[in-house]
Amino acid sequence: MSIRWKTFLSMNRPLVPLDGKGDGKPPQTDARMKVISRTHGRIRRVGLFIPQIFAGWLLLALSYATAADASPKSPQVVVAPPVPLYESRANHSSDGLGKFFLDREIAHFMTHHGASWLERPEREEEEQPTRLVEALALKVGEVAADIGAGSGYLSWRMAKKVGPTGRVYANDIQPEMLQILRTNMLARGLTNVIPVLGDITDPRLPTNAVDLAIMVDVYHEFDHPFEMIREIVRSLKPGGRLVFVEYRGEEKWIPIKALHKMTEAQVRKEMALHPLEWVETLRVLPRQHVIVFRRAPP
Ligand SMILES: C[S@@+](CC[C@H](N)C(=O)[O-])C[C@H]1O[C@@H](n2cnc3c(N)ncnc32)[C@H](O)[C@@H]1O
Repeated sequence: MSIRWKTFLSMNRPLVPLDGKGDGKPPQTDARMKVISRTHGRIRRVGLFIPQIFAGWLLLALSYATAADASPKSPQVVVAPPVPLYESRANHSSDGLGKFFLDREIAHFMTHHGASWLERPEREEEEQPTRLVEALALKVGEVAADIGAGSGYLSWRMAKKVGPTGRVYANDIQPEMLQILRTNMLARGLTNVIPVLGDITDPRLPTNAVDLAIMVDVYHEFDHPFEMIREIVRSLKPGGRLVFVEYRGEEKWIPIKALHKMTEAQVRKEMALHPLEWVETLRVLPRQHVIVFRRAPP
């Protein structure tokens, strides 16, 4: 072991010469001992700081842990909505309404004439709905809401997960879509999917009743996104989850029109206006993100 290492180990003990002799005081005459004594002095001075450095590290680590811990548990800060809520712009995309919410243009919604496109066989590979439903980890007996359910592409998959003791509210604003959905659920022999006709500001779901509400390729089409989310949150049980499945706006290669995609940052910005906590963003699908919030405790 080198002298330096030994002196470091012994710095909190009385100083003794390396040969083990002596009275514990620094020897005054031997040059080698003088060097060791000076080294000890420096190390002692440094040694005085070691507990402080360690304490600093500890404080830093604790503050990180507290910050990470604080974000989901700290009281929800709800951002005030803009006034006016929506803005009309003459210069806008032909795919949109010319109506903007927090700088995002709202897209035209898909009419029931596009229902067969929702059921296209290649969608299984492009959107992997089976994997999506697995990731939601629904439990038997739970209540789910498929908002903007369309033909029921996701409703029946969720209905199988929650089983006959659970239910899926399948909401849409187009009666024709709900008629297609009814036919599809009947063909599958499912009785726990309940069609609910809503309007553009209210999905008309029961209050405090839903464990998980999901919107698959829907939210960007809401004519009144603020009012819709306010009402959906009202329908959630405290702690109930709200899930956005949107084509990833961050990725240009994804072959969907720009207004029919959303970035995670935009979704989170819009949800900051509601009593919701962001839980996680799952990257389990090839083209969409799955952004999960939960209703904040009152
Ligand atoms: C692109 S389709 C998606 C359908 C379904 N989620 C799916 O993934 O197959 C969008 C659906 O959202 C519905 N929609 C648009 N605005 C809505 C609103 N405010 N409330 C409920 N449904 C709405 C449309 O009628 C349409 O059926």
